[in-house]
Amino acid sequence: MNTTKLRIAIQKSGRLNEDSLQILKDAGISIDNGKEQLKASARNFPLEVMYLRNGDIPQYLRDGVVDVAILGENVLIEKGEDIITGDKLGFSKCRVSIAVPKSMRYNRIEDLQGKRIATSYPNTVNAFLAEKGITAELHIINGSVEIAPNIGLADAICDIVSSGSTLFKNNLKEVEVILKSEAILAISPGINEERKAILEKLQFRLRSVLNART
Ligand code: PRP
Ligand code: MG
Repeated sequence: MNTTKLRIAIQKSGRLNEDSLQILKDAGISIDNGKEQLKASARNFPLEVMYLRNGDIPQYLRDGVVDVAILGENVLIEKGEDIITGDKLGFSKCRVSIAVPKSMRYNRIEDLQGKRIATSYPNTVNAFLAEKGITAELHIINGSVEIAPNIGLADAICDIVSSGSTLFKNNLKEVEVILKSEAILAISPGINEERKAILEKLQFRLRSVLNART
C-alpha cells in the first residue's frame, strides 16, 4: 500500500487559517480539526496538514520539511524568493502599504527621506525605498506595528492593510501602496515526483473550487 502523503502547511492562527481550511473542505478534503494539534491528517485524501506560523513557512518550504503551503503572497515576497508560486486562491486580499500619522503633511515619497519606519517587512520596504532613491531608518517589529508612531518609536509604518480599520484606530493614513497580495499555493523547490503527483490532484480540485466560486 502506498502511504506517501503530501505535506501542506497552513497558518496556525490568524486571518488565513479559516479560509485555508474552508478551501480544502470545499475541495472535498476533510481534516480532523484539532487546532491544539500542530499536525493533522486528511481522512479521504493523502494529505498531512501542519499548522505553522506564517513567517516560518518559507523556511519550511525551503528545507523541504513541507511540500506546499497556503500563505500570503506578501510573505513570499518578503522572504521566499526561491519558493515556487502556484495558483492564487482568491482570499485574504490585502495591501502592503506605508502609513503616516494623519497629522503629518505628506505629498510625495521624498517626505519619507531620513524618517524612521517601523515594519515587519524590512526586505519589501527596503526594495521599495531603494527603487525610489529614498533612505530611511527601519525598525523591525513583529506585531502591532501601527502603534509605533503613537509611542514615538517611528515616524511612519509599513504593514498589511485589509479593511483599513487598524490604521484608522491608530490615527494613521495610508500614503503608499507597495504591493497587493492574496493567498496563494506555494510549492517547495525540492518536492519529489511522488508528492508532485498528489499535488497535481490537489491543484485540480482547488481549481474546480475556484471556478465554482467566480
Ligand atoms: C494585521 C496587520 C494589520 C492589520 C490589517 O494585524 O498586521 O495590523 O491586520 O488589517 P485591517 O486593515 O483590516 O485592520 P493582525 O491583527 O493580524 O495582528 P498582528 O499585527 O499583531 O500580527
Ligand atoms: Mg497588525
